[in-house]
Amino acid sequence: MEPKETARPLPVRTAIFPVAGLGTRFLPATKATPKELLAVLDRPLIQFAIDEARAAGIERMIFVSHPSKSAIEKYVLHDAELDEQLCAKGKTEVAQKLRANALDAKAIDVRFVMQDEPLGLGHAVLCAADDALPGPVAVILPDDLILGDAGCLSEMIEAYERGGAGHMVATMQVEADAVSSYGILSVTGRDENVLWADGMVEKPDPDEAPSRQAVVGRYVLDGSIFDDLRNQKPGAGGEIQLTDAISRATPRVGLSGFRFSGQRYDCGSKVGMLQAILAYANSTTEFRNVIEDHNRGLLAAE
Ligand code: G1P
Repeated sequence: MEPKETARPLPVRTAIFPVAGLGTRFLPATKATPKELLAVLDRPLIQFAIDEARAAGIERMIFVSHPSKSAIEKYVLHDAELDEQLCAKGKTEVAQKLRANALDAKAIDVRFVMQDEPLGLGHAVLCAADDALPGPVAVILPDDLILGDAGCLSEMIEAYERGGAGHMVATMQVEADAVSSYGILSVTGRDENVLWADGMVEKPDPDEAPSRQAVVGRYVLDGSIFDDLRNQKPGAGGEIQLTDAISRATPRVGLSGFRFSGQRYDCGSKVGMLQAILAYANSTTEFRNVIEDHNRGLLAAE
């Protein structure tokens, strides 16, 4: 859909984190540990997502979780008892780090809502409807890790606030044989890093895909998404798909894709997680040396 002459949208104040999923692609690691708490070295995926939302100026964070995943709540919130224990042992540096990472329920607006049944990503987002602040909402899928100089959500919100389309999704080009793993955008035009689109399709067959522009886990959505999700019928996999509700609203609110500058890692998969760990380690002097030493060792053995 081509850009419309629209007023500057309301600010994006809410971020929704769908974290109720079972993480079956990463079993057995995810049998007792939520996939969002799997770590890239010492940093759980959820921490990257929280920091990205913070950097983008989000005021309210809503975690759509599952009763079996209470560890997420424990991780996300400030733990006064642990803080006290660490300080009493003189471990003030790590205590400070934890304090800086944690969401303080008093200082930042944080909510947990439960998605009891795995009815799909659209259903997860709908679970946050009553807690979202007025205006557009951001959705962050923590297992899509995006590393780069600028936070993906910050970049997206900046582009979104220039106006044009009510729904914006992060996109990247994928190989033809990978389109059936993603929501795929039907692209109609391009303006630098913004792609105009007239719809999107969830996990199409490669020969029916409208393009190779895949949606990855960052969305900025017009607030009307909740009404559209309320009457969204199940789609691919029998689930309430966010993709379908976005696509249905496109003639009304407009749709664009955003080509972010960072590198995306599918940390719900073992290969993606390994790539993320290597990239993250390589970006620090401390761990780059470990990789180099390791590689030297391997070469010496050849
Ligand atoms: C979800 C969305 C899909 C999107 C993908 C990005 O699929 O439904 O449109 O492309 O996330 O990671 P899932 O990977 O949860 O099946």
